[in-house]
Amino acid sequence: MSVTIILGAQWGDEGKGKIVDLLSAKADVVARYQGGPNAGHTVVIDEEEIVLHQIPSGILHPHTRCIIGNGVVIDPVILMEEVDFVKSKGFQVDGRLFISHRAHLIMPYHKLLDTTREAAEGASKIGTTGRGIGPAYVDKFDRCGIRIVDLLDRSTLAEKLLKNLESKNKVLQRIYDRDSMDTEKIIQDYLEFDRRIDAYVKDTTLLINRAIDASEEVLIEGAQGTMLDIDFGTYPYVTSSNPTAGGACTGLGVGPTRIDRVLGVVKAYTTRVGMGPMPTEFDTEFGDQMRQLGGEYGATTGRPRRCGWFDAVVVRMAAMINGLTHLAITKLDVLDTLPEIKICTAYRYQGRVMEHYPAELWIQEQLEPVYESHPGWLCSTQEAHSFDELPENARSYLRRISELTRTPISLISVGSKRSQTIFME
Ligand code: IMP
Repeated sequence: MSVTIILGAQWGDEGKGKIVDLLSAKADVVARYQGGPNAGHTVVIDEEEIVLHQIPSGILHPHTRCIIGNGVVIDPVILMEEVDFVKSKGFQVDGRLFISHRAHLIMPYHKLLDTTREAAEGASKIGTTGRGIGPAYVDKFDRCGIRIVDLLDRSTLAEKLLKNLESKNKVLQRIYDRDSMDTEKIIQDYLEFDRRIDAYVKDTTLLINRAIDASEEVLIEGAQGTMLDIDFGTYPYVTSSNPTAGGACTGLGVGPTRIDRVLGVVKAYTTRVGMGPMPTEFDTEFGDQMRQLGGEYGATTGRPRRCGWFDAVVVRMAAMINGLTHLAITKLDVLDTLPEIKICTAYRYQGRVMEHYPAELWIQEQLEPVYESHPGWLCSTQEAHSFDELPENARSYLRRISELTRTPISLISVGSKRSQTIFME
């Protein structure tokens, strides 16, 4: 039995939902450690697409216990809608979903501040999901955030809310020229939420560590991806949490010595949503073609994703920062019809070859990818059930990815269904 972190090794949307869903079949506990409803994990069951934003996709396997850890920021409105949605699909939630009493809440003013600020930034906006993620984490680190435990006591909640609303209303009115928010309504809404959430609140740190002590199979699920990490991503075009492996320890209260495997999920090419550098991005026409082939539209916002060739520099960095033990490659089949496929092995900047991702935004924006070209396989990979059943050109493409990223591949996905998966070990 082991503890595995599954995380995105690109800019998010790598297909983690499907991988977590598959591995959950053998898991006792599935836990999320950061982000919030900005994530959209898509799972296809019996031809039906199910998108989850806050509840771990493990909930779709009846025997797993699911945790939303202290590092996650929770939007109660979306969470309760999701609980109802999952129940309506016939899955039991009560007694299987546990929410950390230390997790912070996304409040209505966080969402309003997120969208208002983005609108005010114009062309230099981040391109956030508008779910209030950044402002909620700002309050957490500013030590004025409201946590799930605060819901347990009406007067604590009212006192904290009043203080927050006073300052947020000033910002909204004086800086953004917006109407102030109704304090009493917010208190009532959140007390109502407390009534519903109570059954799910638990000391999830104890729960997960006890599961590890009992040698249960534990999956720790990241949202977003390494290049959106607040420390290591394409700052400031990042999310406000640590999707990288270290975030799993702090976002759940699990010590690093207890982790056995770190599985990095990557697409066989690259995508990102929102603004910010992406060195291998295609020019518009080919990007449109790839977007159609891969159905590359955001699961949370429906925004078209930017597409590009596989960037081995990015994934090599992800392997280092996260200590990846394995890679899971998704959407290989999207490349089936392409006569030529490229991999970015390094960058060129002002005549210099760079093998590592630079920190400077202005350099990131001017990087010229150094490509090597691979012949396509021009046939369907969707029915392959083993590595040997893949066409030789696909196998050599995958071997090269593994070599360039210095990470063994343990799983390959060739379609959205659970059955369209090749396990390497
Ligand atoms: P935020 O997380 O909503 O603040 O958005 C910050 C950046 O992260 C934006 O570029 C978003 O498009 C991106 N982002 C946030 N969540 C996801 C995700 O689940 N997949 C891909 N990109 C995301």
